[in-house]
Amino acid sequence: MTLLEKFRCLFTFGQGVALPLPVIPESKSPFELFQAWFDDANKSGILLAEAMSVSSCSADGQPSSRMVLLKSFDDTGFVFYTNYGSRKSQELQENDKVALLFHWGVLQRQIRIEGVVKRTSQAQSEQYFHSRDRGSQIGAWASRQSEKLSHSDELKDREQQYKTEFADKQVPLPEFWGGYRVEPSYIEFWQGRASRLHDRICFEKQDEGWDVFHLHP
Ligand SMILES: Cc1cc2nc3c(=O)[nH]c(=O)nc-3n(C[C@H](O)[C@H](O)[C@H](O)COP(=O)(O)O)c2cc1C
Repeated sequence: MTLLEKFRCLFTFGQGVALPLPVIPESKSPFELFQAWFDDANKSGILLAEAMSVSSCSADGQPSSRMVLLKSFDDTGFVFYTNYGSRKSQELQENDKVALLFHWGVLQRQIRIEGVVKRTSQAQSEQYFHSRDRGSQIGAWASRQSEKLSHSDELKDREQQYKTEFADKQVPLPEFWGGYRVEPSYIEFWQGRASRLHDRICFEKQDEGWDVFHLHP
């Protein structure tokens, strides 16, 4: 973290307790509020403000969570990229219900998102894959994400194998790699307040638009 980012963190600590939440008209889309909070998180100097927890649940009901990076969002959903053979992907294949969680401690804010996942189009995955640095593209080929290593050098060996295979060529998008779009049906914004009297503003998707309500903290 740069010195400037550290100062920003110091400066923003406690924000949200001192400042009121904006009043949200009933008809407003949660994506506008998400954009505003995401911008605040990025401006506050939080490292990897786009990091979020993704929780999946296997067919037999075992939940599991891990962090991923939010790479884009719009009013159709929230997109992250991963290995389609990984544990999370296998679980999302069995059960498309998913939960996302952001926590920006310095701002005393949390956002909970629930919905279903859909794979992004091949064209979208391709475009994102080729925007990554070459090392990460080779890394995606080398990693059998979530599988056991057969020996300690396996990952390095596989990296070397793909470096050689794709030397002087564009690294192709692996067919086992791409994005998921989380299409939300519920989004909750939590703002920390003094005396634990926190604000919880919830958006629940209806056939047309969003139902907006508040919950006790
Ligand atoms: C801050 C952070 C960001 C991460 N971003 C991603 C990501 O965007 N995609 C991904 O597949 N794994 C990402 N990971 C690794 C995952 O947390 C996890 O280890 C990996 O996806 C394998 O999870 P699984 O075995 O449950 O499928 C990230 C980890 C951290 C700590």
